[in-house]
Parts: sequence; C-alpha cells; structure tokens
Amino acid sequence: MDQESTTLIETLETQRTRFSHRTSVSHKSDFGQYLTPGAIALFMASMFPNVKGSVVKLLDPGAGIGGLACAFVLNMNQRVQGIHYDIDCYEIDDNTLLKLTKTLQELRSIADVGHAVFHKDFIEEAVDHLLQFNKPKYTHVILNPPYKKIHSSSSHRKLLRLVDIEVVNLYSAFVSMSLELLQNDGYLVAIIPRSFCNGTYYLPFRKHILANAVIRRIHLFESRNSVFKNDSVLQENIIIMLQKSGAIDKVEVSYSKDQSVADVKCKRIDYHDIVDLKSRELIINVPYETNYNYPKVETSFKHLGIMVSTGPVVDFRSREYISSESTDESIPLIYPQNIHKFRVLWPSVKELKASINQNAVTQKLMYETGFYVVVRRFSSKEEKRRIVAGLVHPADFKSEYICFENHLNVFHNQGKGLESDIAYGLVAYLNSEGFDHEFRIFSGHTQVNVSDLKRMKYPSLSRLRELGIRLQKNEFNHQVFEDIIAEVVISEDKQDS
Ligand SMILES: C[S@@+](CC[C@H](N)C(=O)[O-])C[C@H]1O[C@@H](n2cnc3c(N)ncnc32)[C@H](O)[C@@H]1O
Repeated sequence: MDQESTTLIETLETQRTRFSHRTSVSHKSDFGQYLTPGAIALFMASMFPNVKGSVVKLLDPGAGIGGLACAFVLNMNQRVQGIHYDIDCYEIDDNTLLKLTKTLQELRSIADVGHAVFHKDFIEEAVDHLLQFNKPKYTHVILNPPYKKIHSSSSHRKLLRLVDIEVVNLYSAFVSMSLELLQNDGYLVAIIPRSFCNGTYYLPFRKHILANAVIRRIHLFESRNSVFKNDSVLQENIIIMLQKSGAIDKVEVSYSKDQSVADVKCKRIDYHDIVDLKSRELIINVPYETNYNYPKVETSFKHLGIMVSTGPVVDFRSREYISSESTDESIPLIYPQNIHKFRVLWPSVKELKASINQNAVTQKLMYETGFYVVVRRFSSKEEKRRIVAGLVHPADFKSEYICFENHLNVFHNQGKGLESDIAYGLVAYLNSEGFDHEFRIFSGHTQVNVSDLKRMKYPSLSRLRELGIRLQKNEFNHQVFEDIIAEVVISEDKQDS
C-alpha cells in the first residue's frame, strides 16, 4: 500500500481506539456500536474479488467513523485502477458524523470518490426504498452492523414485516436489507455474530439470505470472542461474503488466529457440506480448522436405540414437593451441581442433597434407579467445554427411583436405565474433545438441547460398549477418555478404511 494510504489507515486506527475509549459502555450498547479494528477492515476489503466495471456503488450501512468504506477503497485501489467509487454511508449517531465525513473526504486525495453521508436510520430508509419499488442500487456492500435485539413490538420489526422480513436482531435486519439493495451478482461482506448459523430464531434470516444469495466465503477466528475484545464483546464473530444470485460453487473457508488476521489458512469446501439447501433447518455448518484427529463416527442417534430427554422436574413448579432435608430413603433429585468429575454424586461435594416426595403427581417424573448419563444443559461462555456429562451409577443410590431436574439432559432406555457398558461408553464419548468440537460446529450458543444431542453422530453400539468396558478398568479423566477413544474408535476406523 502506498504511503498516503498507509497513513490514512493508521490515523483512522488511532481515531477508532480513541473514539472507542471515549464512548461510554451504555452508549455503545444503545447504538450497537463496536467499531471494526483496522486489520480486520482491510482483511474484509481484501475478500472482494477484483472489480470488473469502472464504477463501484458501495454501501456502508451503520458506518461509524467510516473504517470499512475507507478500507474498501484503499484495498481495491491497490488492485484495480481507474475506478470511480460512489459511496453511501448511513449512520444515526451524531458523535460519529464529523469523523465519518472527514474520512470520506480524505479518500478523495487517493481515489476518485463521490460520497453521501445519510444521518438516517438505515432500516427505515431501506424499507422505504423497497416499498417504492426502486431498483437495487449497490454493486458492493461492506458492513459491521449494530448488534442489538429487535423486540417483537418494536417499530423496526413492524417496518420490516411490511417487506416480509422477519428478524430478531438488528444485525440480521441490516444484512437482509443490504442484500435487498444489492444488484444481481453484487457482493456483500459482513462481520456478524455466529449465532445466525443455526437455531429456529434465525431460520427466516437464513431462508432469506440463502434464497437470494450464495455463500462465497466464510472466515473464522480460532480464538473466539477475540475480535471486539477491547469492547468486552464476548461474542463469536465470523466474516461472511455473499454474492447475490450467483451460481453455487465451493465455499472458501479461511481461518486466522485472532483480530490481527495474520497467517490466514484457506480451504475450499463443497457447498452442501456447508449448508444442505434441501434441509428444513438450513443450518450453516462452519467447520473449524483443527488438527484434531477426530474419529469418523457415523451412527445416527436414532440407530443407537436409546433416548435422551430433558430432566422433567422444573424445580420452581414442583417446589411444594422438593425438600433439601433428605434421608437416604428419599427420592434423590439430581441437579447439574451433583456432577463431579464425570460422576453424579448425591449428596454433591457441596452437600446438595435435594429430594422429591413420592406421590401421584411426582411419580410420573421419576426414573427407576439404574445407569443413566446426564449432560448439563447450560454452560458459561468462558467454560472450556460445552459438554459436561456424568454417570449415574445405581450403586450410589439406595432408593427405588431417582429424579432429574430440568437443567440436565438424560440419556436413558425408554425411561429405564441403560446397559452399564453403554452408559460408561457414553460418558467417555460425550466428554471427549472430539464430541465437544463437533458439537460447537453447529451450535453457536452455550445451551445444550436434546435436539442438538440427537443431531450428533455416535460410535456404533458395539464400539460404545467396548469404550465402556475399557473405561470401567480406568479412572474417569479427560486423558483416559481420549486414550480409549484413540484405541477403540480411531484405530478401528483406520482398520475399516
Ligand atoms: C457495529 S458499529 C460498526 C461501525 C462501523 N461500520 C465499523 O465497522 O467500524 C454499528 C454502527 O451502526 C450505527 N447504527 C445503529 N443503528 C443504526 C441504524 N438504525 N441506522 C444506521 N446506523 C445505525 C451505530 O451508531 C454504529 O456506529
């Protein structure tokens, strides 16, 4: 990059840091205002293919101080000469406007730039545009949209419904509306939270983007939550490039360690491995870069012939039947806190020994005492593992029945206990690094739902049994789980192939 461009980028980066320091946390949160670090802005700009025509009509909705539009022009100007850039920026925050205009003006000394700054709500403007049947105007969009929930009664939600867009967050609204304003074959690059890739809330959004565009590229950061860490945003972000109405081809998936976007690694992945367009859920699978030697397990949950359910006791609804003073004969009520070192202890290490009265109402919530495997439904973002599974061993309970609280998922056999070897095998497999890793590939949230567990692949029953047999001769710890999986699943995989 020439000296003038480098100086502009550096100045902008200093301004971004200063601006960000001076802006209060509440203001940032009100405006969903987390400015893109310079290195990421340039990297996003570098994703666009070389411009073919002589005019670029660029949109930067929610432009902040103009870092993304600026990065786009500086990067493209390096690669292709003789382009006229027409830039439209939308921004509602008064505090940014002076800097934004100045950034765009400074670009004029480097490239042939015309610009307009709209101090207007982008959603309102875009909906207006569509309602008037105006044609899409942009050839390129670059955006880091505001991240904020849209409540069902909000004016944004009502406006968006006028143009058949159903979204739960401003970021997806910005991407959807930007796509609407993009010309056929045009490109859009956005940095957005990963949460849209799965889950029912974002299904209408996925439907909208996949019906109108193809995914050309996805970039992932190995160190999650790192992109806006200076703004304390603990949110896993991805960068996605879409092309409006282009033909389906392989998707380029790239990885970098963190926001410095140094040492980018790339691979090309079949489109249908990223998203199955015939599926109902349209989950976007973002494969992580990994050296992990993950075994190829192919058994679907339904073929295992076992079941998994959410713990049926919702404690605030059953309060009158629950007691913390329990005898050995009481019906134990198991909470996530009862899991200790992959085994369910009652009482827990912190002496949690809740129980439930046995009566006509509670009887249907009970499981016969036996072997079960429980998985915690919630973890915090900071926890290393999403999946924490514990073994329920009948020898640890004197009662005829046990109960599971609603913050747990329970693996069982038609409401009864599992075969012991299978239960042990599941404990090893569910707690393995590979399972956790695969789980995260399609789950962007910290919750572990029954439907997620059912969607995963498992080793065959005979391999689970073999895992269980080996685990019974060992202690419960991560190293043992990995070792026996390497012996039973990975080495047998190699023999099979
Ligand atoms: C996540 S920041 C990104 C800023 C800039 N694009 C960047 O990457 O540094 C989102 C910006 O959108 C602005 N914004 C929020 N709601 C908006 C709206 N409805 N219309 C236009 N801009 C909005 C915020 O003030 C904020 O500056």
